[in-house]
Amino acid sequence: MEIQQDIDLAPYNSFGISQQAAYFADVRQVADLQQALAFAQQQQLPMQVLGAGSNTLFTRDFPGLIVQMNCKGIERLPGTDSVKAACGENWHDLVKYCLNNNLYGIENLALIPGTVGAAPIQNIGAYGVELAQLFLQLEAWDSRSGELHCMTKSACQFGYRDSLFKQAAGQHLIVLSLTLQLSQEYVPRIDYHGLKQAFGGAEPGPRQVFDKVCEIRRGKLPDPGILGNAGSFFKNPVIAVSQYQALQQQYPDLPAYDTEEAASVKLPAAWLLEQIGAKGRRRGGAAVHAEHALVLVNTGSASGEDILLLAQELSDAVLQTFGISLQTEVRIV
Ligand code: EPU
Repeated sequence: MEIQQDIDLAPYNSFGISQQAAYFADVRQVADLQQALAFAQQQQLPMQVLGAGSNTLFTRDFPGLIVQMNCKGIERLPGTDSVKAACGENWHDLVKYCLNNNLYGIENLALIPGTVGAAPIQNIGAYGVELAQLFLQLEAWDSRSGELHCMTKSACQFGYRDSLFKQAAGQHLIVLSLTLQLSQEYVPRIDYHGLKQAFGGAEPGPRQVFDKVCEIRRGKLPDPGILGNAGSFFKNPVIAVSQYQALQQQYPDLPAYDTEEAASVKLPAAWLLEQIGAKGRRRGGAAVHAEHALVLVNTGSASGEDILLLAQELSDAVLQTFGISLQTEVRIV
């Protein structure tokens, strides 16, 4: 593998932000990863692991080594309903592979941008299903010891858009492959608001759920190939029920969703943003998407800084109005 120099990162992030990386490694196999790690160590360079760049905002040139994980391969493990996929596979291709092999449970996660290796980092989720629910195990390369670890679900510490890999204690682990537990028996999961109604009372099959989720996503979320974006920019805030009740006095229409803990609820950040007049706001080339207040877009000429400043402005306004501090979902580099 050749380590490339002075690379424009625009094709490697879904915001389409143009920043330079001093070095770039296109990793296809473990040996490439070992070579990249050795290079970064010798040159004392900071290192950043990247999948498809669909959840990353580059705000300045990166003086170190970007390691893009491009290992390929998807296989159904013989005699099981489990599927193992390499980190560089496209997530949506994996969803299609499962459906084509009559393996179910994953159809609500259709059309999520990004790679298989990035999916566990933020425990991707949509329309009532989270990766953690399908997770069997993963293989991660330990960049400190040079060892391969096989990690169980509890070891990954999954939470809402969260895992060990996002925390300081998991930064040295690089996901190589993911194994999911699927099922040949189909159980529709259509409780997410809007999904059940979309089928008008009929019980859909897996292919119909897959198609509907794709249709809803295409209607609300801009195609990064046309308008640079990284999906939801902020996480939906989880607050105490008591705080929610207090806010409800002032905002009777404020929606809230149950969480696993009875004492807290999750609020749609998009609703809060809409109340502060986010839609249509701009900062340089950055704007809030007209169809969804939680999505920040690059209208063509945005810098990473424009997007960051717009995000800061929005979260300041939400804090001032609702007393709620929004956390970014997107990784800021
Ligand atoms: N809403 C508004 N204005 C808007 C859009 C939404 O007020 O412009 C309100 C509505 O009340 C709506 C509610 O927000 O019912 C929820 O909106 P939506 O169903 O679009 O979901 P979301 O909470 O904004 C989350 C995930 C998405 C995921 C969808 C579907 C987060 C941070 N985002 O969005 O994930 O696709 O649910 O499950 O949890 C992503 O992570 O990048 C992502 C797109």
